[in-house]
Amino acid sequence: MNEPIGIFDSGIGGLTVVKQLTKLLPNENYIYFGDTARVPYGTRSNRLIKQYAFEDTAFLQQFKIKLLVVACNTVSAVAVDLLESSIDIPLSGVIMPGVETAIETTKNSKIGIIGTTATVTSGAYEERIKSINPDITVYGQACPMLVHLVEEGWIDEEITRLTITKYLEPLLEKSIDTIILGCTHFPVVSELIQDVVGSSITLIDSGKETAKKVKQILDKSGLNVNDKSEGNFSFYVSDIPDKFDEVGTLFLGRPVVQATHVDFDNFLMEQGEKIYEPLRRNS
Ligand code: DGL
Repeated sequence: MNEPIGIFDSGIGGLTVVKQLTKLLPNENYIYFGDTARVPYGTRSNRLIKQYAFEDTAFLQQFKIKLLVVACNTVSAVAVDLLESSIDIPLSGVIMPGVETAIETTKNSKIGIIGTTATVTSGAYEERIKSINPDITVYGQACPMLVHLVEEGWIDEEITRLTITKYLEPLLEKSIDTIILGCTHFPVVSELIQDVVGSSITLIDSGKETAKKVKQILDKSGLNVNDKSEGNFSFYVSDIPDKFDEVGTLFLGRPVVQATHVDFDNFLMEQGEKIYEPLRRNS
């Protein structure tokens, strides 16, 4: 199956997930959509996040994608179940893969979650962890400022270290031994986070775990690419942000390919009301 894998995120943060996918599955073809005109999603209401999720999915479905990866933790926390029941292709969010690995990793049954405000207040991580192992205690910490610092490309700055220290202090007081990096942006500063929390705490990169999950889905459903050459990668954004190349390179770990700017408003107008039907049925 040479059809592409579709990936979307609120912006270019999801390139941390693409980095892991292309490492593990280099022959697959990928289409990425980053809603850079409307980022961040992490401070929006659940209603709006769901609406955006359906719009981003509709954009990718034009390309006959064989599988959808919701690279955004915020969307995965708020809208993934609804999306999954509304589309007819396999889907992976980024929460369950991280949850499963964190449960296998923790020795003292205390897991910390860091993410956007929407992700942490949704309780999605806690709910999923508890549904698998109710004896685990989960501590969430929203780190909204960290998203902005990474977006600025401030990876090794003192202000970033101080921000991480301030946010993580309450979690460290709980003696957690595992932290899920529950936001697309955080793997970019994982070395700094590890330095702040110390080597006794294991960090779980949701993107890395998601890539493994996607491989499992492809293997199980026989959807793997037939072609043995390196796959193609197309990159669409709803706006070209400042520092696009610099920050995109940080997320992807190599220079970003040319991004195509799409007129997303126009696309949505052409689609009309049909995109929102599943949302209406569930409201
Ligand atoms: N992509 C978002 C996430 O992983 C972070 C940026 C945002 O708030 O939109 O939660």
